[in-house]
Amino acid sequence: MGNCWGSSSLHEQSHNSSTNQDASRNYSNTMELSATTSSSNCRSQFSEAVSEIVEERNPDGQILEMPNLKVYTFADLKNATKNFKSDTLLGEGGFGKVYKGWVDHRTLQPSKIGSGMVVAIKKLNPESMQGFEEWQSEVNFLGCLSHPNLVKLLGYCWEEKELLLVYEFMARGSLENHLFRRNPAIEPLSWDLRIKISVGAAKGLAFLHASDNQVIYRDFKASNILLDGNYNAKISDFGLAKFGPSGGNSHVTTRVMGTYGYAAPEYVATGHLYVKSDVYGFGVVLLEMMTGLRALDTKRANGQQNLVEWLKPSLSNRRKLKTIMDVRIVGQYSSKAALQAAELTLKCLETDPKKRPPMKEVVEALERIEALKVKVKGKDSQSGSSQSSSHHVQQPARHHYRFQTSNGADN
Ligand SMILES: Nc1ncnc2c1ncn2[C@@H]1O[C@H](COP(=O)(O)OP(=O)(O)OP(=O)(O)O)[C@@H](O)[C@H]1O
Ligand SMILES: [Mg+2]
Repeated sequence: MGNCWGSSSLHEQSHNSSTNQDASRNYSNTMELSATTSSSNCRSQFSEAVSEIVEERNPDGQILEMPNLKVYTFADLKNATKNFKSDTLLGEGGFGKVYKGWVDHRTLQPSKIGSGMVVAIKKLNPESMQGFEEWQSEVNFLGCLSHPNLVKLLGYCWEEKELLLVYEFMARGSLENHLFRRNPAIEPLSWDLRIKISVGAAKGLAFLHASDNQVIYRDFKASNILLDGNYNAKISDFGLAKFGPSGGNSHVTTRVMGTYGYAAPEYVATGHLYVKSDVYGFGVVLLEMMTGLRALDTKRANGQQNLVEWLKPSLSNRRKLKTIMDVRIVGQYSSKAALQAAELTLKCLETDPKKRPPMKEVVEALERIEALKVKVKGKDSQSGSSQSSSHHVQQPARHHYRFQTSNGADN
């Protein structure tokens, strides 16, 4: 691998490889909606960004000059997972299955099962609609970005048709599992933990948006927020990430891709992707946290299937707000905190992207809400220690659906 986002990155290599380009074509089943920029523009955008972006330094994170990724063979990762045995399965998403594996702390080489450091290994399913392009994007972006609220990519494997990614292990799995899976072994997330998770995820997005060459994440949703043993939130899955607009432009134009229920309305309608389109997705997750309901649920009655369309009007009404809050967290927050959270959610969900707050302001607003502590009788509601600790295997039930428009490259 060369410099981050540089000319010798995997991104470039793939464009020189017809085999892999074909592979990525096979995986995408898309419908063209809007005009796209050419792939050469995309390449130069990557290259131009390098020189400036690698200079950036953020006190709470950094952009690495060189990706620091370990290259694994397929045999290595077979060894690390008992040949992808089903008892090491952590979950499954649109890209493929995610397994638990073990590597040596220091060398990151596969180690004896059960010894060394636990990692999560994502293996592309050849049938996947998400494919080579998203795998590449993950390696190119996440390999260079380092921040406490972004999941750490440790390495990858690219061997013929086998594409895998190796990440730090996030002991409590995804926010989606905690919010929506009605598993009696998983206690509902407390209000304080929901706010803590929101602050962490907001800091991750704020970091991406902070540099001159902003990164637009494009797929913000509860299943892409992973939780470590202490409920620290980290954003995962950079498959759809894009560089933000340059040269004074307000947006980039792309093929429309994302997840139903989370994607910003202007983006779905026009393919114009703004940094603020991520803020909308963040607002949707905030609404999910407050209500305990999924962004999109086709099992709900007509008119209630899209959470934002259904409940956004209730956020500005104090009386209605009480009725939409998740019953599992009643008594854990003050009405002031709920009101402030509702106000912030509304701002993030503004139809006009310009009216949405920047993520830095969202972080500050959430920290003010976090400071509003409530003492619940006989119990400090701040404590999250009573939450169940194990990572539960996520069955491959799909409650959220990725969409993309038409054939053709996303640039
Ligand atoms: N680093 C990790 N540590 C622990 N578990 C993980 C890790 N990455 C993923 N998982 C588990 O695997 C599941 C599937 O993740 P994946 O990102 O493949 O799909 P998804 O986010 O559910 O869907 P999508 O394909 O739309 O992103 C997660 O919900 C989580 O339970
Ligand atoms: Mg994901």
